Amino acid sequence: MKPKRRAMTSTARPVAGKRASVPREPRRSEGARSPALATTRPRPAVGPRASEAPAVVEIAPSQVDLRVDLGRGLILPNPIMVASGTFGYGIEYGDVVDVDRLGGICCKGTTLKPRIGNPPPRVTETPGGMLNSIGLQNPGVDAVIEKYARTWATWRTPVIVNVAGESVHEYVEVARRLDGVPGVAGIELNISCPNVGAGGLQFAIDAGAAGEVTAAVRRATDLPLLVKLSPNVADIRPIARAIADAGADALTAINTLSGIALSPRRDRPLLGNIYGGLSGPALKPVALRIVYEAVQAVNIPVVAIGGVTELNDVLDFLAVGAVAVQVGTAIFADPTVPIRLADELAATCARQGMLAYRELIATALPAAKGRPSSKGVEYRP
Ligand SMILES: Cc1cc2nc3c(=O)[nH]c(=O)nc-3n(C[C@H](O)[C@H](O)[C@H](O)COP(=O)(O)O)c2cc1C
Repeated sequence: MKPKRRAMTSTARPVAGKRASVPREPRRSEGARSPALATTRPRPAVGPRASEAPAVVEIAPSQVDLRVDLGRGLILPNPIMVASGTFGYGIEYGDVVDVDRLGGICCKGTTLKPRIGNPPPRVTETPGGMLNSIGLQNPGVDAVIEKYARTWATWRTPVIVNVAGESVHEYVEVARRLDGVPGVAGIELNISCPNVGAGGLQFAIDAGAAGEVTAAVRRATDLPLLVKLSPNVADIRPIARAIADAGADALTAINTLSGIALSPRRDRPLLGNIYGGLSGPALKPVALRIVYEAVQAVNIPVVAIGGVTELNDVLDFLAVGAVAVQVGTAIFADPTVPIRLADELAATCARQGMLAYRELIATALPAAKGRPSSKGVEYRP
């Protein structure tokens, strides 16, 4: 028999200073009758005495507040977004997915001029993920605005344009053209690009360069500004701080991890570009570590990306302090995953008696604020 959903009123929830614990949800492979389901029932962290037993209320998933404030007026209807490069410009998926139920759409990387991208092969499967080297193929910012912005303006879901470039000037020019365009809700800077002016050094791996491009784009637009961190660095914290200090409204973390694959005969690297970016479940522990570190280094919201395929991944990223997540590679197998995750998040909050998903955020962070965050870069096996 399906257990009746019951929830405690707020008096039974963890008191200030105590952290809520976030139970793991049963994996999708576990049957509905799995005993693990029993562990998802609401349990007050501080047990009420019989005389002060709280009133039992029922919370419907639709009552759970899933809204996310990313700053500068950018409010997501729920914390499950789609990641750049894995959902096109959103329009392509209109027949399969109700885009208005997504928390936000980060569209494909967009540059000042059209780009044809890297030579093939551009993608290959790897254990627990994939490597891609698409090379930012896109029609250029003017064509993107002309073809898609009018449709975006009719959606409830905010569309955030992912912007790439090879110089500060290019980023600034793309941002300027997007500024004030109806349908464009924000900008996500993909700074994992070589800075041609600095001899090909990536903006994302240098705190000074990351801060410089962020500050320049900040001056060029009033749009909400998200900046995407790269995992290909020794220590994310100075870079995260430089970006926050330069005026970003939020961080997104992480982009893909650099890797290569070999041809079947092992006589050359497989991808036409030699290097590709690793994404998918294999990336998740790295993303968790970087979100954990970045959240403690800055005072702006952090959106997590990396290997999200099921609700437990969402709960894990919220627990290390992310306010929202983006789903990328998992969309290729099933484009409806993000909407299902939003529904499951609301359902799990309702089951635990939470009226807002925000209670799930930061439960796994160290209690003492401002302490050195982790053994990320210092870790020695
Ligand atoms: C095919 C493909 C194309 C991508 N294109 C972009 C891009 O244009 N800009 C960007 O910032 N990230 C891009 N990404 C990175 C994703 O947005 C995301 O950060 C990464 O895939 C990790 O998330 P996942 O493990 O859920 O896929 C791309 C990823 C894939 C797989």
